[in-house]
Amino acid sequence: MSADAPGRAGGQAPEELRPILDAAGEQTERMLAETERRLARIAAPTELPGGAGELATRAGATLAAGGKRLRPLLVFLCGAGAADPPPAGEPLVAAACSVELIHMAALLHDDVLDRAPLRRGLPTVFATDGRDAAVSTGDHLFARAFGELAVIGHAGAVQTLSIASSALVRGELMQRADAWSADVVVARYLERCELKTASLFETACRLGALLGAPGPGAADRLGSFGRQIGLAFQILDDVLDLAGAPGQTGKRRGTDLLDGTVTLPLIYAREESAELAALDLRSVTTPEQAESVCRTVAETDAFGRATALALELVADAKRGAASIDLDRIEVLDLVADSVVARVS
Ligand code: FPP
Ligand code: MG
Repeated sequence: MSADAPGRAGGQAPEELRPILDAAGEQTERMLAETERRLARIAAPTELPGGAGELATRAGATLAAGGKRLRPLLVFLCGAGAADPPPAGEPLVAAACSVELIHMAALLHDDVLDRAPLRRGLPTVFATDGRDAAVSTGDHLFARAFGELAVIGHAGAVQTLSIASSALVRGELMQRADAWSADVVVARYLERCELKTASLFETACRLGALLGAPGPGAADRLGSFGRQIGLAFQILDDVLDLAGAPGQTGKRRGTDLLDGTVTLPLIYAREESAELAALDLRSVTTPEQAESVCRTVAETDAFGRATALALELVADAKRGAASIDLDRIEVLDLVADSVVARVS
């Protein structure tokens, strides 16, 4: 379990967000704390009609296991100017919970598809309780996400989350269709990442704008900021999968290789290395073989090139955000920087 997990239900913010929260101010921190409490209640058996026993226990454990809560943070920062303290049923808190619940649901399903043993250093629900348990826990969180958003009575917000959820599914399908393929080009990789990751970052920003002080007029520009940093986030994720320290990422290196996921650093490395270009990805079947491929990728410029693209996207996102009339816009810059400065 990540170091910050035990205090989550009590509302403590993830430690890696500390510099951003200090700059954002107390109201954002209060909203995040309220989000943590609300997420814990959403998963708790008492909130479920008829109780849900193991389902609720697994959902609660999944939510408590950590995560950076970047998407809720984006909802609050893009909705800046909301009432302080947040009133009961604050729409931004509901939106933040719904985005995080979709994210968690997607990860539960992703772990089934990837047959992942570990996430954030903990055994996945798939590993401990099996496929059916993981799929239904994901379904449960997915359903709760829309229930949470529906109560604020904003049809446009529900539609925005629905569009992003479909995008996630299409991105995942694309990933499966491209698995082990030697023909995945950069544009196709980026399209997949826009769908499976950037779309939910964009939605977090859009929901903030729609429900908060900025209003619908700022939604497109804030959404574009979210999409760009979401894309940068996924590129960094893919670099970390091949280059990260397992003690920091909470999983072994090269897990993408083992499920056939062709990512940007691998595409770049194959352009440079004849050995990697000739490699049949289906022959990589053990963690030791995956580790060996990671070492070969590290001998190329692939990590540097992929990171450079992520940095470019972040710089572009910051340039676009600079013209948005929003309270504490500079905090969005810190969030943008944090997606490319992370080690896990
Ligand atoms: C993690 O990426 C996975 C995603 C960003 C999206 C997964 C989407 C689905 C499984 C579709 C189902 C969607 C819903 C809404 C329930 P990754 O595999 O690159 O990262 P990882 O290394 O953390 O697994
Ligand atoms: Mg995965």
